[in-house]
Amino acid sequence: MTSWLTRKLQNLTTGSGEPSSGYSEVINDLQREFNVSSEKLREIADGLKCEMRKGLEQTGQTVAMVPSYVTGRPDGKEQGRYLALDLGGTNLRVCEVHLSGDGKVSMKQQKYTISQELQTGPVRDLFDYMATCIDKYVTEHSSMETRELPATKLGFTFSFPVLQTALDRGTLIHWTKGFNCSGVEGKDIVELLRDALSRKNVPVEVLALVNDTVGTLISQGYKDPNTLLGVILGTGTNGAYFEKISNIKKLTNTSLNPDDTMVINMEWGAFDNERRVLPVTMFDNKLDRKSVNPRKQTFEKLVSGMYLGEISRNVILHLIDRNILFDGYSSADLNKMWSFETGYMSIIENDKSADLTETQHILENTLSLPKTSLEERRIVKKIVELVGTRAARLAAAAFVGVTEHCNSVEKGCSIGIDGSLYHHYPGFRERVRAAMRELLGEKAENIKLTEASDGSGIGAAIIACLANKA
Ligand code: BGC
Repeated sequence: MTSWLTRKLQNLTTGSGEPSSGYSEVINDLQREFNVSSEKLREIADGLKCEMRKGLEQTGQTVAMVPSYVTGRPDGKEQGRYLALDLGGTNLRVCEVHLSGDGKVSMKQQKYTISQELQTGPVRDLFDYMATCIDKYVTEHSSMETRELPATKLGFTFSFPVLQTALDRGTLIHWTKGFNCSGVEGKDIVELLRDALSRKNVPVEVLALVNDTVGTLISQGYKDPNTLLGVILGTGTNGAYFEKISNIKKLTNTSLNPDDTMVINMEWGAFDNERRVLPVTMFDNKLDRKSVNPRKQTFEKLVSGMYLGEISRNVILHLIDRNILFDGYSSADLNKMWSFETGYMSIIENDKSADLTETQHILENTLSLPKTSLEERRIVKKIVELVGTRAARLAAAAFVGVTEHCNSVEKGCSIGIDGSLYHHYPGFRERVRAAMRELLGEKAENIKLTEASDGSGIGAAIIACLANKA
């Protein structure tokens, strides 16, 4: 059977190996769908600013703007050894952080996998597992070789939306990123961990509950005092920034100094769940319906690493069903949800070979598709570029929204960014930069983007140390 594309190409190909006009017709349609114009970016940045103001006024808003109860900034004199437990993506990390009191930090860590069953089973099993991992770490990996006692005070990085009522208290708003454990409704997250630790007889004290963005902001702020915003662009996405307490109208705790600052965990992943401004396509809707949290985390589902591969898969399947790709045939592997990993997108974007051999390897060997043509591989590469570019541009709109909200564009600031998407996706940061320039012109140069690796664990330890002294 000859596909629509093959027929078109037979008619149109120039023989030069250059994309034919059949190719451009398909691409043009997709380009229109995934394009985020400068005007749209402006609308999105302004929309986010508006939602930020709403979230600061009242609880229960779409962009939750959660007060973290982390006030002020560390000054580098913090000292001691602290544990950090980091739950939020595909791995659980137990970290041991050494703060030496002169602004220097060192860290050891151990990663543990969290099975699919634990991610979606009873919450007690998940917390018991975490307590066991802490116990294992403390007995096997802690600094015993230095004859020091194991660190026993812990900051808990819990990277999900939590309605915090104190530094060590808060309830889950809802799960995100593929987690969907039962039995967590109305329960205090820190209490759940403390109970699990005591069930397992692990003598560790939980001092603080910290979102990963808050940890990233604090650890980056430790290195660069000009840091305004901490961002995660990984499995999920979110940002945390310093807000003046007097602007957090919904805070009723009058003992706080209104002129101090508090870190706000924005939870921007939920931005535009109402779908007023974001350019949601049918490919995104397909993903959303099948996700564990339909109609939630709309912004996150267009931007973060967990979802980009799946959106691309939906586009590829659509073109297969229209008989435009692979003679209308998919493979059992490609038909599986999540089979087109975001990591493949990085490889495909990096594939500069004339024949797109890396792309061919992924399609034919990893995903078992029958023989692919160069034109088909070019289309797949283009799909990936469109999905990846849209994500970067939307992230840029959020960066601009927050910096404008804080009046920091003129005076300048730094944004500390952690997460696999930002670290490893080729061209992501350049695309972010380009979109920021479209929005801010030359003033975009006042905003420094910095890599903030491993910030969430270190930040949680610094916050635990501050809490220990309070
Ligand atoms: C969560 C945030 C978290 C972000 C990055 C989102 O799904 O809601 O709390 O900061 O992922 O890990």
